Amino acid sequence: MTEEGILNKVETPRPVGVLIGIGSMEKRVLIPRQEIQSKVKDLARRISSDYAGKEPILIGILNGVVFFFAELVMSLSIPSKIDFIRVSSYGSSKASSGTIHLVKDLELPVKGQDLIVVEDIVDTGLTLNYLVRNLKSREPASLKICALIDKTERREQEVAIDYCGFKVQEGFIVGYGLDYAEQYRYLPDIWVLTE
Ligand code: IMP
Repeated sequence: MTEEGILNKVETPRPVGVLIGIGSMEKRVLIPRQEIQSKVKDLARRISSDYAGKEPILIGILNGVVFFFAELVMSLSIPSKIDFIRVSSYGSSKASSGTIHLVKDLELPVKGQDLIVVEDIVDTGLTLNYLVRNLKSREPASLKICALIDKTERREQEVAIDYCGFKVQEGFIVGYGLDYAEQYRYLPDIWVLTE
């Protein structure tokens, strides 16, 4: 991971109109777009090799995963199916409520299927622990986890991440689908908010 390209919001390469109203929070680029793209290709290569001859179902955890999920799935060299699940999120806060609710369930049957759960960021580990328990009870043939970012400092429940993009220790991360109170998802790079 690089600390290069440190910018503030005024220098973000987006049309001025898009920047109006994003608040006074400072932020700096943590992982530039090019580094994200190359990491996604690496992950896709590993998954394609591990699942050669199979057709896994990739399960994206909405909403933050959307850009990562799309790039990952399109970079695979094996056939796959896709589905989405949504759980209750942080709302407008940077702290988890600690209670996970299923808001949108899968639509494909998963019994006997190879599942890869794709998450944008693992923080406390509560979301993935809940989902792994929930999905395992549906008797898939296998279940693995792919996460773009493993944020370790606040981990409360262990999560075995089979395919991990980047490890960061702390900080609130936005961009590339990740939000803070629904802001910043559209940014193509990954940023860290600074107070
Ligand atoms: P966990 O249940 O605490 O592991 O949190 C997982 C979910 O929290 C992710 O899918 C994100 O929606 C959200 N989250 C945790 N940390 C961050 C962050 O730094 N930026 C944006 N969302 C985050």
